[in-house]
Amino acid sequence: MNTTLIQFAYLVASVLFILGLRNLSSPRTASLGNQMAAVGMLIAIVATLLVQGVVDYPIVIAGIVVGSLIGVVAATRIQMTDMPQMVALLNGFGGAASVLVAGAEVSSRISANDIPQGIVPGALVASVLIGGVTLTGSLIAFAKLQELMRGAPIQYPAQQYINALIALATLGACVLLGMEPLDLELFAVLAGLALLLGVLLVIPIGGADMPVVIALLNSYSGLAACATGFVLDNSALVISGSLVGASGLILTNIMCNAMNRSLGNVLFGAFGARVEGASVAADGVDQGPVTAYTPMDAAVIFSNARSVIVVPGYGMAVAQAQHAVRELSDTLAGNGIEVNFAIHPVAGRMPGHMNVLLAEADVPYERLVEMDEINPQFPETDVALVLGANDVVNPAAREDETSPIYGMPILEVDRARHVFVIKRSMNPGFAGIQNPLFFKENTMMIFGDAKKVVIELNDAVKNY
Ligand code: TAP
Repeated sequence: MNTTLIQFAYLVASVLFILGLRNLSSPRTASLGNQMAAVGMLIAIVATLLVQGVVDYPIVIAGIVVGSLIGVVAATRIQMTDMPQMVALLNGFGGAASVLVAGAEVSSRISANDIPQGIVPGALVASVLIGGVTLTGSLIAFAKLQELMRGAPIQYPAQQYINALIALATLGACVLLGMEPLDLELFAVLAGLALLLGVLLVIPIGGADMPVVIALLNSYSGLAACATGFVLDNSALVISGSLVGASGLILTNIMCNAMNRSLGNVLFGAFGARVEGASVAADGVDQGPVTAYTPMDAAVIFSNARSVIVVPGYGMAVAQAQHAVRELSDTLAGNGIEVNFAIHPVAGRMPGHMNVLLAEADVPYERLVEMDEINPQFPETDVALVLGANDVVNPAAREDETSPIYGMPILEVDRARHVFVIKRSMNPGFAGIQNPLFFKENTMMIFGDAKKVVIELNDAVKNY
């Protein structure tokens, strides 16, 4: 196929990727954005397959069939609550692809005695290094989230020094491979070190910091693809890789802010121990009695309220209570009560988790309010309904300097006149720490599965 035509196809694909991303920034246009990006990817793949001499068609078709089958089965079977693991795994595959493509390029250049020039040696090194770290780092993140290994930070003596030593050795291997890009042994050494580094960087990271790691690995997988694009001189790969790399970094930054971590702190891997001390610090404290309500009791307060803010969390996802809560909000709105939904950036287990579930239940977008915007409204609000959320409403983050989550921005539900918390027990949330909110005077617990309780509450409000 004509090179100009292929470059034009790549240009169209890249424009579709950019427009797709742009549309993804609002829930209203997100599915259109997704379709645009998918069409862009189809164009890029077809154009690549038409480049003569690049591919062996039977193998490529077999790969597409097997890969698509695995992808379709995995994507349809995966529970919404397990999506972060799936994302981690997909990031890892992206990293693996970069290492493999770089390896294939080195061996084909060795056969052709074609010594890479210009930016290519550096791009080769980056593909192997970033791809290798992404692969094993993502596999560890997957294993932790899937509970195949301990979620708590894994630490051992002199860990930082050992990591620094391996990082130095990796740097040395990068320089050497950059100078001798066709040395397959050096290639294998760098790949091995990068794979080891990926494991070592992620094992000391504990549960509550995992969202940052996933976002960062997502960015790495994009950067690795971008480097591979330079190796292959493929502009579509360079552009799509940079888009993933940049958007992943932006997401990482948002996650860092939401969890009160600096990006530098994340990049240098000095986190993990923080969480270990956490559970011990807050759990031992006897925080006094809690007030338990039934949905029937709660209906009285709901019926007399003028404003209600619903704060969804991971428990809403587990219980699949999004449709029930939308029905409750319709009932309340029908009674003239103003209902909004407060969205914390790390509520649930993946970025945008609550937005996706509430959109699925047809909750109007205008009703979803970001943390900074809604926090000043809590003191004026009659009822805050905390639906399976815990860490993201924990006032210890604001009040208790010894708390491991001290400084993390939270939804300040405790400032509302009445707070109802729906959860099944007094068990802690993801960070493993107790929540003083449950013991406050204006808080009433309604114990039970979120969906069941919300349905009962809705019936009780209707019959009040
Ligand atoms: P969590 O702090 O994890 O609390 C969820 C609560 O839901 C639990 O305390 C649990 O209490 C309750 N729950 C579970 N199943 C329920 C059910 N069927 N019905 C009613 N309640 C149920 O959730 P959160 O407040 O959304 O905070 C998210 C946490 O996850 C943060 O620590 C965040 O850092 C972390 N994290 C976030 C992400 C992203 S990107 N969003 C990714 C990974 C981790 P019971 O067991 O007593 O019911």
